[in-house]
Amino acid sequence: MRTLFNTTEPLAGKRILLGVCGSIAAYKSPEIVRELTRLGAEVRVVMTRAAGQFVTPITLQALSGQPVRQDLFAAEEEAAMDHIRLARWPDAVVVAPVSANSLARFALGLGDDLLSTLLLVTHAPIFLAPAMNASMWAHPATQDHARRLREYGAQFLGPEAGALACGEEGTGRMLEPEQIVAQLRLALAPKTLTGKQVLITAGPTWESLDPARGLTNRASGKQGFALAQACAEAGAQVHLISGPSHETTSPGVLRENVTSAQEMLEACLRALETPTDLFIANAAVADHRPALQSTQKLPKSAIAEHLTLTLNPDIVSLVHQHSQRPRVIVAFAAETRDHLESARSKAARKGADIMVINDISRSDSGMGAESNACSILEGARQTEIPICSKIDLARHLIHYIAQNHFAAEVTDPHETLANPHP
Ligand code: C5P
Repeated sequence: MRTLFNTTEPLAGKRILLGVCGSIAAYKSPEIVRELTRLGAEVRVVMTRAAGQFVTPITLQALSGQPVRQDLFAAEEEAAMDHIRLARWPDAVVVAPVSANSLARFALGLGDDLLSTLLLVTHAPIFLAPAMNASMWAHPATQDHARRLREYGAQFLGPEAGALACGEEGTGRMLEPEQIVAQLRLALAPKTLTGKQVLITAGPTWESLDPARGLTNRASGKQGFALAQACAEAGAQVHLISGPSHETTSPGVLRENVTSAQEMLEACLRALETPTDLFIANAAVADHRPALQSTQKLPKSAIAEHLTLTLNPDIVSLVHQHSQRPRVIVAFAAETRDHLESARSKAARKGADIMVINDISRSDSGMGAESNACSILEGARQTEIPICSKIDLARHLIHYIAQNHFAAEVTDPHETLANPHP
């Protein structure tokens, strides 16, 4: 039996150079530094002169634990780490916010301050998060600069539409700090499933009895959404079919909402029209539905007689029997006793290649909990993932699947987005 450990955060240990330009959204830059350092990244901050009008270097220095640089010609700072070495230092450069003025300077290839010079020198991937008035963003000159920077290999994070600091509405808002961090994570994670098509079911299903009542279970969707995030980080195309859940969908995941087991099955069968490499059935599908579903609210006295149940279709079995069967099928077994034996026979009955066993008798794992632990059963092999957060468990499981089923086809398992500029 093998055991998998360790933190899986793709940003842990990564070096991020954060550029801050003169836009009111600079008040959010300290949040980006805070979140990145909390996740274990090393952050160095470079500000333009104008950025100092909106946020102080001392704030960013305190949060990053590093001196903040503004000046290309600061003799002492250049002696400590000159701008060429500073440009070679990061795994990624993110400029958040980017003002219209700085966007123009970067597009022209000017090196008139430290930040613009670093962008000319660095080989690291560059991410730009614009923040400006909607008219400034829509101006043909700004659009031209953005297009040119995209051609040079920069990736744009936003801007998005909404209320702007100037009081107007429109497209020009900087993405929220957590969205910027999520995009960086997506870009920098090891790409172990590049080009693979993954289908995931998540959450509970709701089997309606009448418009007010129904059958469901305690699943939250957390583990399935975390699996979708881990697959997207690994470079897969991810189609997530979710029953009712309040979880937020990670960037890079295509989410389809369904309610009942029957709808989930139909959505899965439609999804299989696209050849699928990996199917992960994480949803806690309700085993039964009321035989009669009333479109009118039932009187209390009629409920007991309406509670005759019909067995729901088994989605995993039907996906396994499909002419376009995914290459690898992973099913979950939420068990409270006799885990191994019951899971083995379940795998054989349903046609799953891998069975992931969750012990839901513990309060700290399985349905609704923040953490989870599992055993991965594949043929005679058994691998344990000890108690950890649901996203850690998801990344460990996806790593296991990628290593054992797709490693030969994914040429560079550590390939990340590169800045094509030499
Ligand atoms: O039989 P049991 O419900 O324990 O099996 C759990 C596994 O089967 C999970 O992977 C779940 O997503 C899947 N399942 C299904 N269709 C059902 C019931 C469960 O695909 N009707």
